[in-house]
Amino acid sequence: MAITSTSGAPLQPPAHFALVVRSLPKVTAEDRDKILKDVEYNVFAFPAGLLTCDFLSDSGTSAMTDFQWAAVMRGDESYGRNWGYYCLLEVFRDIFERGSQHQQRAIRDVLAGTVAPMSEADFYRSRLLGLASQRGFVNGGHHQLARPNFFIVPQGRCAETLLFSTMSSLIARERQDPAPRSPVIISNGFFDTTGANAKAAGFELQTFTQPGLTDPFPQDLIGKENNFKGNLDLEATQVFLSNNAGRVSMLLLTITNNWAAAQPVSMTNIRGAASLARTFNIPFFFDACRFAENAYFIQRYEDGYANVDILDIVKEMFSYVDGFTISLKKDGLANMGGVLCFRDEGVFAQRYQGVGMLLKESQIRCYGNDSYGGMSGRDLMAAAAGLYQVTKTSYLANRITQVQHFAERLLAEGIAVLSPPGGHAVYLDMDAYFFGCARKPEDFASAGFTIQLIRDHGIRAAEAGPFGWEYDLKAADDPERAKIPNLVRFAVPRNVYSDEHISYTVAAIKDLHKRRHTDIPNVVITRGKNMRLRHFSAGLKPIMPTTTTKGAWLDEAQRSLGNLFQAVGLDQNGRKELSKALTVVMGAWGQTPVEQSSSWTSSVGNDGSPIEFSVAVDPTTGEAELRLLAEAQPSPSDKTNNNLNHLWARLSSAALKLNDTISAEYKPSISLARFSQIRDLFLPSSLPADKQTIKLAAWHSFAYSARKGPQWKLYLDPSNAADGYTALSSTREAFTRLGLYSAWKSVESILGPSDSVVYFSLDLTGKVDSSARVKVYMAHSVDKQQMTPATFRSQAAIIADKHAKLCGHYPESIPVDGYEIQRFIAAMSGPDFDKTDLDLGNRKPLLSCFAFTTTRSDREAPTAVLANTTVHFPMDAYVPDDEEAHRRTEAYYSASANEAKDIYNKVLGAVQTRPLNKAKGIHAWVSLKQNVTSKTGSDDTKKGAGVENTFYFCPEILGGK
Ligand code: F0G
Repeated sequence: MAITSTSGAPLQPPAHFALVVRSLPKVTAEDRDKILKDVEYNVFAFPAGLLTCDFLSDSGTSAMTDFQWAAVMRGDESYGRNWGYYCLLEVFRDIFERGSQHQQRAIRDVLAGTVAPMSEADFYRSRLLGLASQRGFVNGGHHQLARPNFFIVPQGRCAETLLFSTMSSLIARERQDPAPRSPVIISNGFFDTTGANAKAAGFELQTFTQPGLTDPFPQDLIGKENNFKGNLDLEATQVFLSNNAGRVSMLLLTITNNWAAAQPVSMTNIRGAASLARTFNIPFFFDACRFAENAYFIQRYEDGYANVDILDIVKEMFSYVDGFTISLKKDGLANMGGVLCFRDEGVFAQRYQGVGMLLKESQIRCYGNDSYGGMSGRDLMAAAAGLYQVTKTSYLANRITQVQHFAERLLAEGIAVLSPPGGHAVYLDMDAYFFGCARKPEDFASAGFTIQLIRDHGIRAAEAGPFGWEYDLKAADDPERAKIPNLVRFAVPRNVYSDEHISYTVAAIKDLHKRRHTDIPNVVITRGKNMRLRHFSAGLKPIMPTTTTKGAWLDEAQRSLGNLFQAVGLDQNGRKELSKALTVVMGAWGQTPVEQSSSWTSSVGNDGSPIEFSVAVDPTTGEAELRLLAEAQPSPSDKTNNNLNHLWARLSSAALKLNDTISAEYKPSISLARFSQIRDLFLPSSLPADKQTIKLAAWHSFAYSARKGPQWKLYLDPSNAADGYTALSSTREAFTRLGLYSAWKSVESILGPSDSVVYFSLDLTGKVDSSARVKVYMAHSVDKQQMTPATFRSQAAIIADKHAKLCGHYPESIPVDGYEIQRFIAAMSGPDFDKTDLDLGNRKPLLSCFAFTTTRSDREAPTAVLANTTVHFPMDAYVPDDEEAHRRTEAYYSASANEAKDIYNKVLGAVQTRPLNKAKGIHAWVSLKQNVTSKTGSDDTKKGAGVENTFYFCPEILGGK
């Protein structure tokens, strides 16, 4: 019976347990801080012994198995032909040529130390010397002497040097042409040393990775499907081969593709590459460092391989190639070692006649005698044993699943990783990590992240982004510069870390993410900027980002808006419309520097700034609409005067001027006719004598959707009512003048003694027809006499009841869902829901909003239609900080609305400019709207669920002042 985790994913049985343990030292952040300074903040130079988790590389960092350690004990350090040499040759035949049914595993007898009843000499002759072996990758006996094709070296890059330099000298020898063009090697992705070695030998590199590496991959398909993003782009390769006949010296497939985020290559792709190589008669090689991991991906994800043994998959993979290089430090499960081998009498051997002898010469010259090639006898044994261990399915399942879980845990914390995760490493998408933080590529913030991660948490990872790829040294118009990714690699050592390490690391990455605006430094290069492979040796200096001086209002607001465009994935048209609208509402004051703002504080933003952004989200689909709300400000030249009437005159004239500008800009879709009918009620030329404060003269909001186009709305404050009117009577009068008296009557029927009318709003967009809306906002204060105990629970019930009652006046409408209102208030009030000691009466009250349209079927007496009802929750008044607001919102969406949760998080990231737990105020309001018009009603009705949440955010343009 398969068992599953709590999330329902199948659980792999454990594949190993620890036998030898190394304990870690206790090192503090302050200690690491000093050491970082000592090593010029170069993470490669940081002492490993002071780290808690080290994800710098998976190369040579594996914990060996007990079987390997046993093999080490059986290592023989004789100079010529120790038995480790024979074991290594034999394991290559077993793993890469024989498949599951024909394994010989001579190493078992070597480890056992006895071959009885066979004689030792017979064992050598029949099992180790491989006297008959030829025409494969590992000639034996005299075939290996006469036609050497298997070369041991200390590590992968030595195999590359041997291969490319020898090929190059053979090509040069054959050449007639005095000014030849460079020979070419094609690959799906060159590892950096591989590329550097090929270049140094005079080859031109052509990389054809299948497009789409960074394309999004559905999170719920991780572990279920894989699209083999490491593949060679066969089409591009074919085009190049056709156009460059004779120039290409080799096709080299890196499996898995370390250059392309550790992504695997499919068997189909290997077969396709082999067929191209055959057609054009060029040698086909693997860079086989992670062949076993690649084979596991094929078994798990490629059609037709689910029931094929790993060893048979490996055999098939290698049946297509003419040779390969391998670093045994990866899928050799060893701490050192490398091999170059090629098929005896294959395409490569034929194309480069005599190459074997030349290679052997170089091998001996550079690394040592052919039977050890720079490796100790013990290491030969460790690698031989390791190749058997690394191809066990239980090991591979554990290995690949660990990396996958690492990625999934990060995704669950909202940290973007390149998906699906590859074989040996998880790559953080640092553009997403720093989204909204205004970090430029040349700030090297991702390098700063790796420094801070060591400092704060003792975890080492490697930047693979603008610093490593030398963004600053490339010309602005260099197309290569635009292609530089922004990643940080966490390469997972084999058999070393447990779940505990992964959990700790995920928590550390999340912790820095929360503090990304303030606590992750940018980096400047203080030494070695122009050095080759500078990331290994440059000196760096971290510089914490400071709150920069703010620009003009319009620039600051446009920056937030730009982030929001990205967060909601708005199309070009929408972007243009919203940017234009922002410019229009801000007018001349938009050019004023934020620092020189007047002392008038607006009620639009929590921080007193006159701009707020909001995003309406459909919780079932995650569809989002971006909106802005602004208060027209007097022109900067209009001097401040603290007299209330003077302020009123300036604010109302700014609002009226904006009306005219909008009307002129958006003609003919704007109509001010309805506004003119009611203007005198809410924008009297002078304020009532008893007026003490002004909240607003008028606010303007703008929304854009592809379906409805640009939409302007106006908000007015009934407490500014003209002489002789109250807030209530002026609103009643406004409804009456607009032909909505019956609507007003229904509203009045639910007004309680502690409810008050606080805003009146009407659409400016649209003719005076059935689609233009009028909205009234009602504040629900708490009457302590009426409602004991004053908990959110009892308030929620009362509010839900009012909405239902109002709806009852409109028999045509869909009834509001009162339970949903209560669930919403419960979620947003969080742990306060049932508290009785909350001073609800003295805090910002919850609001209800009711929107009406009219039907004009009877021209004489238009009939009011209830379009929707909304509950607004003033989040900032009921949370200690924005982190708590975030927690409540996430809990509200829980598991059922992942798309909506995603959008909410992205939007929050777009406006946020500081850690959430530092203060409150980014979350202003959050609302729940229910569309109640029946399907036959206005175009407001969406298909399906008529529920919508809107998040109102304050970009804190003044906040950071
Ligand atoms: N090829 C690939 C695909 C590699 O990933 C590496 C090393 C090499 C060749 C070179 O092998 O280190 O034994 O000389 N990759 C390590 C890494 C260093 O961290 O990715 P080597």
